[in-house]
Amino acid sequence: MAENGVEEEENMTSENDLPPGWETRFMTDGRIYYIDHNTKRTQWEHPKNGIVTRIEGELPFGWHKEQDEDGQDYYVDSVKGKTTYIDPRVALTTKPKVKGKVKVDTFKTAMDILKDKNLAGKVVIITGANSGIGFETTKAMSLYGAHVIMACRDIRKGNMAAEKIRDIRKTLIPKLNVLRLDLASLESIENFAEQFKAMKLPLHILICNAAVLSPSWQQTKDNIELTFGVNHVGHHYLVKLLQDCLIKSAPARVVVTSSESHRFPNFNYTEELDIKKLPLQKSDYWSILAYNQSKLSNILFSMELNRRLAPQGVTSNAVHPGNMIYTSLAKNSWLYWMMYFLCRPFSKSPAQGAAVVTYCATSRELDNSGGYYFNNFYAIEPSKEAMNAETAQELWKLTDYLISDRQKLYRCAVQVPRMLQDS
Ligand SMILES: NC(=O)c1ccc[n+]([C@@H]2O[C@H](COP(=O)([O-])OP(=O)(O)OC[C@H]3O[C@@H](n4cnc5c(N)ncnc54)[C@H](OP(=O)(O)O)[C@@H]3O)[C@@H](O)[C@H]2O)c1
Repeated sequence: MAENGVEEEENMTSENDLPPGWETRFMTDGRIYYIDHNTKRTQWEHPKNGIVTRIEGELPFGWHKEQDEDGQDYYVDSVKGKTTYIDPRVALTTKPKVKGKVKVDTFKTAMDILKDKNLAGKVVIITGANSGIGFETTKAMSLYGAHVIMACRDIRKGNMAAEKIRDIRKTLIPKLNVLRLDLASLESIENFAEQFKAMKLPLHILICNAAVLSPSWQQTKDNIELTFGVNHVGHHYLVKLLQDCLIKSAPARVVVTSSESHRFPNFNYTEELDIKKLPLQKSDYWSILAYNQSKLSNILFSMELNRRLAPQGVTSNAVHPGNMIYTSLAKNSWLYWMMYFLCRPFSKSPAQGAAVVTYCATSRELDNSGGYYFNNFYAIEPSKEAMNAETAQELWKLTDYLISDRQKLYRCAVQVPRMLQDS
C-alpha cells in the first residue's frame, strides 16, 4: 500500500503491458485503441487481456498531466513523486474478466471505494468524525481530496483525529477543519451552523453519522431524551439549518447512518413506531429500544428529506454500515462493550463499515438517486414502517414541534439582525 492507501500502480499496470511492437493510442472521446506495428493493424481490444477500455472522468486525486519536449502527454503523481506515460485512469478502469456471477466484495474499505475518485473541490461535513465509522469516512474522503469539516462534540478529540490523518500524508496535506458540534444541544447546533456559514463554503455532502447508545435515561440540554435527541432530533435540526447551503450547492447529498436494528423498535416484535410515546419517558426507557427507535427515525427522516429536497437537487440515503462493528458506540455499558468485543473477530472493521457510507456519499451510480436504504452496497428494503410516508410525516411534525421554541429564538437572535443588516 502507498501512503494514501492507493495500491501501487505497478501491480495494476503489469496486466496492461503490451507485446513488443504494439502501441496504445487515445481517441478524443476517451476510447483507447491498440496499434500492432508488426502487422500494421489496429484494434479496440487489449492484445493481452482482450478488454475494451474507455477512460472517463477526472484524473485520480494527486495526479496531473504535463507534456514532454516532443509534445507527448505524461502524468505526474504528486503524492508518490512518480511520472508515467500511461494515463492512470487506464489502470483504474481496467477490470479483470469475471466469468459467471459478479461477486461484490462486501469487505471493501472506504479507501477501496475511492480508489479511482478525485474528491478535490468537494466540501463534506461529517458528524462524529473523531471516532469509529465517522473517523474512517473522514480519513478516506480527505485523503482523496475532499475538504472535510469534522463536526465533533469534543474539539480536543477532533484535533487529535485530524492530526492522525495529517500524519498519514506529508505531501498534499488533507484539508480538515474541526468545528464543535454537540447534538445534545440545539444552541450548539446553531453555533455550528453559523460557524460553517461564516466559512462561506459550498456544502456538497452532509453525513449524519454521530450517535449515542445511552444505557440510562438522560436528557439533552433541551430536555429531550438523549438517544432520540442526539441520533435523530439533533441531525434533523442540523440539516434544517444547513439545507439552504445544500440547495445552493446542488447536486448535493445527505447520508444518514442508520442500522439494521431499526427493524426492532418494540419488544413485542412489531415494526411500528409509536410516535405518541416519543421522546421516551423515564418509565418507558430501555436503552436498546431507544437506540432502535432512533435508527428507525433516521431512515424515516432520510426518506422524508429526500421527498422534500430531491426536486431541488438534494438527495438523501440511509445506510447500515455493518453488524456489531467494534467502535466506541458501546463504551458506556460494559455489557454491550463485551458483546461488541466478543463479536470483533467476526464483524467488519470500522474502515469496512465506512465503505458503504462513502459509497452512498460519492458513487456516480447514485447521482440524483435518493430515498434508499443501503446495506453492503445494495439498496435493500428496510422495514415496512421505515417506508411508511405517513409515519415519516408525523415524525417530521413531532420533531419540528420539539425544536420550535428554540428555532423561534434562533430566528430572532440570528436571522432578524442579518435581515436588518442586508436591508
Ligand atoms: N458500530 C456498529 O456496529 C454500528 C452498527 C450499525 C450502525 N452504526 C451506526 O454508525 C454510526 C457511527 O457509530 P460508531 O459505531 O462509529 O460509534 P462511535 O465510534 O461511538 O462514534 C460515534 C460518534 O458520535 C459522536 N457523538 C456522540 N454523542 C454526540 C453528541 N452529543 N454530539 C456530537 N457527536 C456525538 C461521538 O463523539 P465522542 O467520541 O465525543 O463520544 C463519536 O464521534 C452511528 O450512527 C451508529 O448508530 C454502528
